[in-house]
Amino acid sequence: MFVIYDIYLRWYDLALRAINFEVYGSPRKDSFQNLILSGMGGSGIVCDMIYSVLYSSSEVPVTIVKDFQIPRWTSKNSLLCAISYSGNTLETLNTVSKALEIGAEVCIVTSGGKLLELARVRGLPHIVVDSGLIPRAAFPQLLIATLKLLSIYGINLCSDLRSLISVLRDVEPISKTSKELAEFLKNSLPVIISNMRFYPLAMRFKDELNENSKMMAKVELVPEWAHNDIVGWELPLNIVKSLVIWDDDLVIEFPIDYLRCRGVDLQVLKLLGDDLLSKMLYGSYIAGLTSVYLAGLHGVKAEETKSIDEYKNFLRVRFP
Ligand code: F6R
Repeated sequence: MFVIYDIYLRWYDLALRAINFEVYGSPRKDSFQNLILSGMGGSGIVCDMIYSVLYSSSEVPVTIVKDFQIPRWTSKNSLLCAISYSGNTLETLNTVSKALEIGAEVCIVTSGGKLLELARVRGLPHIVVDSGLIPRAAFPQLLIATLKLLSIYGINLCSDLRSLISVLRDVEPISKTSKELAEFLKNSLPVIISNMRFYPLAMRFKDELNENSKMMAKVELVPEWAHNDIVGWELPLNIVKSLVIWDDDLVIEFPIDYLRCRGVDLQVLKLLGDDLLSKMLYGSYIAGLTSVYLAGLHGVKAEETKSIDEYKNFLRVRFP
């Protein structure tokens, strides 16, 4: 099997280690008017998960940046939390520099690179995750580190990290479900459907299929799906298979019935966990293992992402 597979198998232990990571530095101030979460790819998905949890609980506006630019309204009263496993992702570095220029509060989660250097030199609050992993496979550490870091600003998303990560402990049933899903999705064009709450998990599933299994995949979100994309399914392609992420939410029942009636090959993924965050963590584990098993079925190398390297080389040459 692949190197990345061994990292996925260690997720519970990696998450457990992350609970004790040290938080370096302290906030310059403890209140802010808005929160900007900045990160790309396997690091950026942590931003999406946090955004989704804060959507129904945060009293200040929260936004996600997956770009070189930060919003025009960023001010010295903003908090920007940057997450980059390598610490060298140009888009994320740019957002940090711009936020610092404006005088915003900046905190950082990384394993090293330029971001760690900057955090140390500027005395920015930060957490250092384990190095030597692959960004997308370091997900539980990036997530837990970010939860810990945000808590120093009074943003408390999880009161019991041990209980959160308990959904990762029992690998065997997770692996069994993932193998079945890999068989189901083999040689298909997967369309992952979820409601808005679970969109980060739907995205994570797609991203894992893209990067590990080298497959194209699509995400659709209800209720928006039912206002446009649904019409395309009146003549579905026969390579399409659909994976619906279950939530106790009436609206998710509609695509399941609708697509089944049209003969679309569909499976429903039910998630373990007590709350949104633990369910997304559990689902991310299924996504990771499914994508690695699919890589095996398709005969491709899960850890290799040559095209991402090509893009990063392009950036390095164009923006030296
Ligand atoms: C995932 C992966 C990419 C990176 C992305 C950003 O394994 O390789 O999605 O996460 O290119 O890089 P980092 O995470 O280093 O900021």
